[in-house]
Amino acid sequence: MDVRKAIEERRSVREFTSDNVPDKDVRSILDAGRWAPSGLNNQPWKFKIIRDDETKRQLAGCTHYGGIIKSAPVSIAVLLDNTTGYDRTKDLQAVGACIQNMLLSAHSLGMGAVWLGEILNKRKEAENILGVRADCELMAVVAVGRPVKKKRASNRKSLEDLILY
Ligand SMILES: Cc1cc2nc3c(=O)[nH]c(=O)nc-3n(C[C@H](O)[C@H](O)[C@H](O)COP(=O)(O)O)c2cc1C
Repeated sequence: MDVRKAIEERRSVREFTSDNVPDKDVRSILDAGRWAPSGLNNQPWKFKIIRDDETKRQLAGCTHYGGIIKSAPVSIAVLLDNTTGYDRTKDLQAVGACIQNMLLSAHSLGMGAVWLGEILNKRKEAENILGVRADCELMAVVAVGRPVKKKRASNRKSLEDLILY
């Protein structure tokens, strides 16, 4: 898929069909994530794949957006790996780039995905449920599935509002 088209077409998807997401698609999404740029190419990310209903149920209790986690066939926890981190700001930027690659990749595969950040309000609780090791930090959960067909609109500020003169 054309990159520009994917960037403009991608929307956050919060309603999924019951269709499964095959492992090969999950791996393809993670693969796109791992090709993101990072400072010094330190690749400070790790992933946990969540398919188990009980884990989803518990994780759902950590966010107002729990219904999305419960209904998505698969969710991916994106972690910052502090053992490879070297500069917190740059490491966080790199993880953001990684997540955006994942969202674009999901879209190009015909999947829908949404970046869930509100869950970080209960980061420790979510990390305990996921068994995140002490040297890693939860950055986001990305819920993935086949999108329910519906129109999803979004908007952006105009370039004129963004370019500072
Ligand atoms: C850092 C970050 C955190 C987000 N957290 C949530 C969230 O917790 N729940 C949710 O439904 N969407 C979340 N989103 C998705 C945004 O709401 C969405 O990207 C934005 O409204 C623009 O819509 P679009 O992705 O369809 O273009 C998050 C996005 C980002 C980048």
